[in-house]
Amino acid sequence: MKKPLQINPKQAAGEKAAQLVKNNMVVGLGTGSTTAYAIKELGKRVASGLKIQGVPTSYQSAFLAAENGIPITTLDEHPVLDIAIDGADQIANFIAIKGGGAAHTREKIVAQSAKKFVVVADESKVVEVLNHPVPLEVIPFARKLVVKQVAKLGGKAVVRMGVNKDGPVISDNGNFIMDADFGEIDDPESLDKALSQCTGIVEHGIFTKVDVVYIGKKDGSVEILKA
Ligand code: 5RP
Repeated sequence: MKKPLQINPKQAAGEKAAQLVKNNMVVGLGTGSTTAYAIKELGKRVASGLKIQGVPTSYQSAFLAAENGIPITTLDEHPVLDIAIDGADQIANFIAIKGGGAAHTREKIVAQSAKKFVVVADESKVVEVLNHPVPLEVIPFARKLVVKQVAKLGGKAVVRMGVNKDGPVISDNGNFIMDADFGEIDDPESLDKALSQCTGIVEHGIFTKVDVVYIGKKDGSVEILKA
């Protein structure tokens, strides 16, 4: 008997979102396994003649862009990007939690530099109420102070530990990553503002300005939601 065709929802979302990119655009290249499909698809389109430049959000996306023949540029050269495509750990009502790959600081800088911020995700990431721990990029010297400030906001922050690396995860910017569990986040906009005011947190993973969401489904279809 023939096996049914396996469709990867992340791949469906990433590849479809890559079609938003047009000639001469400067594109923010997110981090993670879903965005990787978008980057690979863009690489194929570049090989067929599409002219774009990419601003990577991490070493991962920089390596992937280079492997796939996408010319790299910087925010210094292109402070305004046409579009940024990135993944999410969870998303509800056009607010995303990001930073599962410890890249959310650069991801947020790139997202906010883009005219259009597109999130690509499989359907398991879409929820009614956010409850995923919020990644924080933290100056190592401020670790204990951050634990205290997060506790005052009703959360519990722990340092993320490495896998295949002893000790803490170090971000591409040389800082610690902490994950702050707040349980259900009823008011993510207020938490966004409160975390932004904490001393020692470089950036947190709540993204409040998502323009478009591409949701990959198990049947291979992609639902597109616009804010
Ligand atoms: C990296 C991120 C990723 O985009 C997020 O963790 C989703 O990853 P994936 O597409 O692999 O599920 O925010 O910092």
